[in-house]
Amino acid sequence: MHNEDYVYLGVNDHDIDLFEGQYQVPHGISYNSWLIRDEKTCLMDTVDVRKKSEFMQNLAAALDGRALDYLVVSHVEPDHASSIGAVLDAWPGVTLVGNAKTFQLLENYFVLGSAARLVVKEGETLSLGRHTLQFVTAPMVHWPEVMFTYDADCQVLFSADAFGKFGGIDMDPQTDPEHWDDEARRYYFNIVGKYGPQVQAVLKKAAGLTISEILPLHGPALSDAIPHALELYQKWSTYAPESDGVFIAFASLHGNTELAAEQLADKLDNRGCPEILLCDLARDDVSEALSCAFRYGKVVLCASTYNAGVMPFMEDFLHHLQAKNWQKRTVGLVENGSWAPMAAKTMKGLLEGMKDITVLEPVVTLRGAVKAADQPQLDALADALMQ
Ligand code: FEO
Repeated sequence: MHNEDYVYLGVNDHDIDLFEGQYQVPHGISYNSWLIRDEKTCLMDTVDVRKKSEFMQNLAAALDGRALDYLVVSHVEPDHASSIGAVLDAWPGVTLVGNAKTFQLLENYFVLGSAARLVVKEGETLSLGRHTLQFVTAPMVHWPEVMFTYDADCQVLFSADAFGKFGGIDMDPQTDPEHWDDEARRYYFNIVGKYGPQVQAVLKKAAGLTISEILPLHGPALSDAIPHALELYQKWSTYAPESDGVFIAFASLHGNTELAAEQLADKLDNRGCPEILLCDLARDDVSEALSCAFRYGKVVLCASTYNAGVMPFMEDFLHHLQAKNWQKRTVGLVENGSWAPMAAKTMKGLLEGMKDITVLEPVVTLRGAVKAADQPQLDALADALMQ
């Protein structure tokens, strides 16, 4: 094994406010890249152009005057590929390595001109000397051109976006407030949650490889944690619930629907529910709410009626869930409406577009404040959720 040939060139982005223009990243995000210094030098991806200067300094220092022979492009999305132009300017003799789709997509971003290209197919290899890289296509994890790269010498799998997570990797692990699972889950479901069957397909291909280390394009390298990460990816990509408990998401106009959600949580707690999580869809991060909806097998949606439909935060949340193929869940509904409650009907209509969703009875209907007379409905829903 020649792990000493690897040099990490990645950067942490703590200046970004929204990743992909939509996801909150309170602890930033890393864009990972490596140089393999073998008889040939090979760069594994670049970084977001936002951090081009730091990355180019890292690359020049690691090359230490040597030429750059290859650049493997695992994924063309700009958070990894938008510094390719700078690399081509600095090392015009480099050969770009990708599959046919890679080059189609690269042309959308760059004028490649006379840049040398090596087009690889599934299973093909590239020898650098001590290291031989094998390419494993991973379409739609997360774009159609994505490919993993396996280095048998080091038993390393470069996994593109798979096994990535939000958060920079420059924080002391002892003080890092995030656990890998939570931010890896939020990353997985928001970025590739829609493509569970495609993730399954590449997991089956990877099962034939001996892997000691996984190097994703975001987040820390995985070694001891590989079995745990694979177990989670198996659950996540088959849409199986991960935790036993109930997730309650509410959208409340004047606080009464929120109070009903809290009372339902108390009733579940009194009945011994192992985990109960509440989320205010108007104030909490929707990407976190989505992650929680995938984490738990039972989800309660509590919403006020609004404009003869449902409060927009809940409608938006359900559209997010549908877009990510949310499925195989048991759902409780709580609606509120002073004169013509319509929230439950609207939520049911949106849920009908999703696979294997079971709506529990009773559907709780409130009219304004939560009253003593409403308690039997809430108790009955709590009982149904505990079955
Ligand atoms: Fe991290 Fe799909 O790019």
